[in-house]
Amino acid sequence: MRRFIDLAELSRVQVLALLALAARLEQRPEPQALAGKILGLLFMNPSLRTLASCQAAMARLGGSSFVITPGAGTWQLETREGAVMDGSVAEHIREGLPVLASYCDALGIRSFADGKDLAADLGEHKFNAMARLIDKPLINLESAANHPCQALADWKTLDDLGIPQRGKLVLCWAYHPRPLPLAVPAATLHMAAMRGMNVTILRPEGFALPAAILEKARRAAADAATGVGGAGGVRDAGGAGAGAIHETSDVREAMSGAHVVYVKEWAGTARYGDEAADAAARRAARHWCLNEDWFAAAPPACRLMHCLPVRRNVAIADALLDGPRSVVLRQAYNRLPAQMAVLHDLLSPAETATR
Ligand code: CP
Repeated sequence: MRRFIDLAELSRVQVLALLALAARLEQRPEPQALAGKILGLLFMNPSLRTLASCQAAMARLGGSSFVITPGAGTWQLETREGAVMDGSVAEHIREGLPVLASYCDALGIRSFADGKDLAADLGEHKFNAMARLIDKPLINLESAANHPCQALADWKTLDDLGIPQRGKLVLCWAYHPRPLPLAVPAATLHMAAMRGMNVTILRPEGFALPAAILEKARRAAADAATGVGGAGGVRDAGGAGAGAIHETSDVREAMSGAHVVYVKEWAGTARYGDEAADAAARRAARHWCLNEDWFAAAPPACRLMHCLPVRRNVAIADALLDGPRSVVLRQAYNRLPAQMAVLHDLLSPAETATR
């Protein structure tokens, strides 16, 4: 693996190998595997889990890392092509990124959606422009429409919990006072489809995910159903009966038979970039704050997932987050072994020698 940008760039077999590597490193640590290797981390946006798990993973494998947070102790970075830089921003990514890449063996970048132009965000214009400036292994630490590190960790969590490969996952919209990006719902949907799960997207009217995200996930579901694993095209044990994607606004219909409910807040795509219209639509759906009542039609063992951070009693009620359904801390913990697997695959001399 040369870069970890999107689960869709990997075959299902490659993802299963990464998950096996994560489990192996969890059980049998390799404290010298990445001795002497350096990971650069560029965070254009804030983080807790992604930043800490990357640094911890690198340290646990014997390597080291540095962190750049533009505007917070380091120069702000301009990303726009052709910008006249006569304002407060001192450095352009055209110099900044190659310089950073020259100091490390792999670079991770977090760069959220601008939230103004849906086509530009779905097309990953900003992240791709940054990626083109780097000649080292690259990790997507959350771009406009993807969060593959979270998705890999979540796949591991589903496996750890014994959630059936073809079980039912409900991707459930929840209220947030701001229009949050599409990265996590898109990555979660793709991961679940690639795993072979039946997915129901539960959201209020006006908050359907964009067609491009749905179509991409449906292709992954079809590949899982036929056992053809994505980019590598390798036949595996996906098999018939895997993967369907439905959308509904009916809570009872969605929750019926659910093995897991993955809660996430996201912006309305019909009014993307129109803050006032989006805020009005979200205010009308303020009651989409999940509590135990939402699970009335769900089996007792149905689990609750959320990538965190979560606003308590805005998106999810205290009692549900603190109750037995919740596996949010397990998800967050799994960011560490998942990150170790990605870094090991990208950087360990044993892996690179066979490429
Ligand atoms: N889930 C996640 O990516 O968390 P952070 O934003 O804290 O990194």
